Amino acid sequence: MKNRKVGIIGAGAVGATAAYSLAMMGTCNEIVLFDIAEGIAQGKAIDIAQATHYAPQPTIISAAATPAEVKDCDIVVITAGVPRKGDMTREDLLMINAKIIKSVTEDVMKHSPNAVIISVSNPLDVMTYAIHKITGWKSNRIIGMAGALDGSRMAYQIYKKLGYGAGQTGTLVIGDHGKNMIPLPHKVQVGDVPTTDLLNDDAFEDIIERTKNGGAEIVKYLGTSGYYGPGRAIAHMVEAILNDSKTVISCSVLLNGEYGYSNITVGVPVVLGKNGLEEIIQMTLSTKTKEKFKASVESIQEGIDILEKNTFFDS
Ligand code: NAI
Ligand code: 2OP
Repeated sequence: MKNRKVGIIGAGAVGATAAYSLAMMGTCNEIVLFDIAEGIAQGKAIDIAQATHYAPQPTIISAAATPAEVKDCDIVVITAGVPRKGDMTREDLLMINAKIIKSVTEDVMKHSPNAVIISVSNPLDVMTYAIHKITGWKSNRIIGMAGALDGSRMAYQIYKKLGYGAGQTGTLVIGDHGKNMIPLPHKVQVGDVPTTDLLNDDAFEDIIERTKNGGAEIVKYLGTSGYYGPGRAIAHMVEAILNDSKTVISCSVLLNGEYGYSNITVGVPVVLGKNGLEEIIQMTLSTKTKEKFKASVESIQEGIDILEKNTFFDS
């Protein structure tokens, strides 16, 4: 049987938690972690490897000493980046993380030339776009993780309102992974029951606001962003790809005419399978949702424009 190998670049909170989640599910045979900060990947790889002693299936976990050792992966997850510090503008942070993503992506192209890339670093949709442009790979091989997480946050908020249906609730969130994200709680079901039979307009508005605020709520308590939710969401996408399960998950993907847009990466429901992105699902959107989607696309384009203004794509 073919080895199933996942590389994770950036072994910080999210990268390591994704590795742990994958190891506990026994999704792949091998996980290799790399981090630029000395000792991080090594320490976390040892800890996770020891945890696998009690996992349902064995997984080989290792740390790469150099980017070149993250090689021949089926999937590479990119979570490398720096957090925003006091005096950094949004533009500063965008340019710093874009440069990190560029160098990391060039390594992936060299050492795992057949991989599917799952992009995670923020600003998510813009970084995913940058990876498309840097690689020039077919668009099915680069997928941004956002809707899987934001959707789980929406399902949690629906559960909190109803008090039942945990794990039985749809997860449809489209648009950007930021202030213009578009949770669609009225489109999903709890069990087989449409939420429109269970919740009123006020409840939907509240769920939408709380979902959009889902990341910030965790920061408020922890002083840092969440990692269990993101780690598990990444693992869910890896499972769909490695198992070729044709699972429908909202992801940030490059549009080519779908929803009326091209050359932009934005969250829409897609089918994930062995080729990465297998199909973009085109939903019918209401006029109001189309307007929100436009605002979302424009906010992502603003980030791409900053990269262009700084000649990021020229070299
Ligand atoms: P973290 O700070 O714990 O980890 C980031 C790691 O990247 C650090 O260990 C750092 O040393 C490493 N790194 C920096 N430059 C590198 C390079 N050139 N090569 C290899 N490693 C490098 O941050 P955390 O919480 O793990 O988040 C990671 C990224 O994921 C952030 O950009 C965060 O905003 C984003 N994120 C995205 C989510 C999404 O839904 N798309 C959800 C949660 C986080
Ligand atoms: C989150 O949504 C920060 O993107 C990260 O938690």
